[in-house]
Amino acid sequence: MRGHSPLDSGAIATDCSESERAPCAPYQQRNLLDRLSSRSTLELHYRHMMAREHDLLTRRLGLVSGVVLSVGSGWHPGRHLFPAPSFRLVAVDADPDRVAGVCETGRADEAHVGYAGRLEFPPRSFDVVLYRLVLHHIAFQGPLQPCFSEAARLLRPGGAMVAIEPGLWHPVGLGLALANRARVATAIHGTPDDIPLSPRRLIGEARAAGLDPELHAVTYTWRRMAAPLQHSLQPLDELGSRPRAARLGHTLMLIARAAG
Ligand SMILES: C[S@@+](CC[C@H](N)C(=O)[O-])C[C@H]1O[C@@H](n2cnc3c(N)ncnc32)[C@H](O)[C@@H]1O
Repeated sequence: MRGHSPLDSGAIATDCSESERAPCAPYQQRNLLDRLSSRSTLELHYRHMMAREHDLLTRRLGLVSGVVLSVGSGWHPGRHLFPAPSFRLVAVDADPDRVAGVCETGRADEAHVGYAGRLEFPPRSFDVVLYRLVLHHIAFQGPLQPCFSEAARLLRPGGAMVAIEPGLWHPVGLGLALANRARVATAIHGTPDDIPLSPRRLIGEARAAGLDPELHAVTYTWRRMAAPLQHSLQPLDELGSRPRAARLGHTLMLIARAAG
């Protein structure tokens, strides 16, 4: 699937037909937390989180149209944040099955197999480079610096890298880091490759790549919390753009701008 855009220059190395395997660790279905969590509780959280992401970007990004690159696009490349036709959405994922799914359902305007940090798009091709729930997997695979440098290279002047990732300084993030260290994360929540990221690391990587960062908490709630508790804590999320409070979010949003 190739759309009609300046990106159709043949510069990208791979396309939907490539069969390199995904780098994510296999997911263990029979884990403790999945046995305890109901689908409806998880869905409640996902809906709230997507609405918060949308609100934050509407308030802070200052873009109403453009070309977006979603890296690690999975099944959901980010249409809830960048609707068609105002935004052209280019999806990239290391997993060919996910790329094929996105191609078939038309959730993106273009989709390609590719690895973060190794993409061959021309410089200054995008208004936004989106990493939604991906950098914390890449942190398990290796350094994050190539992702940030690549985003800086691919962004047009005034564009922004947007990363939405689990935060290390929230109690759930700290618990997850301890579970990783004790090598019990797979038994507890199905995978060893969820590495919560510290606000300091996200901001430091952005600055080192020459981007100008700001941080927000998307939410303080956790998808495993009982629904009434989620409802009662959700109003706290309104504090999520205050600098000190932002750092403690369960899910963080980094907006890191390229110079205009
Ligand atoms: C948790 S999913 C997130 C999917 C989507 N962004 C979303 O918000 O639903 C992580 C995705 O990142 C992809 N991924 C992991 N490591 C990657 C890498 N190094 N380069 C490209 N994609 C990667 C996985 O294949 C998977 O589809």
